[in-house]
Amino acid sequence: MTRLANVPECSPSNPVNPADIPVRTLNSGVQIPAIGLGTFGSDHVPPSAVAEAVEYAASVGYRHFDCASVYGNEKQVGESFERLFKSGLRREELWITSKLWNDKHGEDDVIASCAKSLADLKIEYLDLYLVHWPFPNHHPPGCDVGARSPNAQPYIHENYMRTWRKMEELVDRGWVRNIGTSNMTIPKTKLLLRDARIKPVANEMELHPHFQQPEFFEYLMRNGIQPIGFSPIGSPARPERDRTDEDTSPTEDPVIRRIAKQHGVHPAVVCIKWAVQRGQIPIPFSTNPRNILANLQCAVHDPLTEQEMNDIARIDRNCRLIKGQVFLWKDNQTWEDLWDRNGEITPP
Ligand SMILES: NC(=O)c1ccc[n+]([C@@H]2O[C@H](COP(=O)([O-])OP(=O)(O)OC[C@H]3O[C@@H](n4cnc5c(N)ncnc54)[C@H](OP(=O)(O)O)[C@@H]3O)[C@@H](O)[C@H]2O)c1
Repeated sequence: MTRLANVPECSPSNPVNPADIPVRTLNSGVQIPAIGLGTFGSDHVPPSAVAEAVEYAASVGYRHFDCASVYGNEKQVGESFERLFKSGLRREELWITSKLWNDKHGEDDVIASCAKSLADLKIEYLDLYLVHWPFPNHHPPGCDVGARSPNAQPYIHENYMRTWRKMEELVDRGWVRNIGTSNMTIPKTKLLLRDARIKPVANEMELHPHFQQPEFFEYLMRNGIQPIGFSPIGSPARPERDRTDEDTSPTEDPVIRRIAKQHGVHPAVVCIKWAVQRGQIPIPFSTNPRNILANLQCAVHDPLTEQEMNDIARIDRNCRLIKGQVFLWKDNQTWEDLWDRNGEITPP
């Protein structure tokens, strides 16, 4: 591998070779690119800007895109895919993920919701379809941290399995190639593994140097479930509802800054390099061409040393940023109740 500081500037006319991007093999036997582009505009980046970023990212070598119906931009992102396919990119060269939103867990809603994502994204199948959260609790886009759905419910395994059966049906129909989870915990995943006919191939979860989730990460790896890491840079532009005074920022950590300086890169890039090297799949969001490129380039150049990886392992602060308060289902709860912190599913 070449040192990043010495890598010639990439651009759409001199892209990263997609064949150089590392891949991970899922328990279904298929390979997924080890880095993707996030598409959640954190309630303030317009759909057109995200769609433009998708097209630019594909032009410089990205082949993996993390979409979701709730991001409110699948139509515009789909128009970007359509243009890319017209310009010669083949569907099978891309990895496209989408997610079932929380108000669509009902048995009659899963198939219809997937059909809508497929139509909006202008594709005939998804590589991966995730249940976005294990709670069927909707909140409107742009709501504040105190917002609660009047019909909010706890996690009820039987209900989740009804949703999962429909996810399995989507695989049987050939609409989606793989299914997975997001924002799960060890006890919930144990039950799913016990009862699933088609196992989840991946769990999408918050992962960055200040929130490494070592126990859950190891559990998933042991059970053949690929961790996909969201907010890999610490989501500096996340919505207000996801901010508290205790939050820390991995890009401001002195260890990350020291390593960034040594490699001649932005601290955000070190967070991405660490993620790829550790084995999770980071899906950084960006609409800035320079950052989009830097995040991809670091996945193929200039690995961190063992010492640097060990140094980063030691700066975990167990600092969850995306706490999910809006999914709480009754009064007098704290966000920790969503995450089964004592190893058991929080009772209703
Ligand atoms: N499953 C879930 O529940 C869930 C939850 C949250 C997020 N996600 C997914 O994960 C994706 C990423 O998470 P995120 O958007 O929360 O946060 P993130 O990727 O950690 O942070 C994105 C922010 O970092 C900046 N950035 C990116 N690369 C940079 C670089 N090289 N140097 C400096 N700044 C850089 C971006 O600004 P610029 O645009 O200026 O570069 C943007 O403001 C989302 O887009 C979404 O697809 C999933």
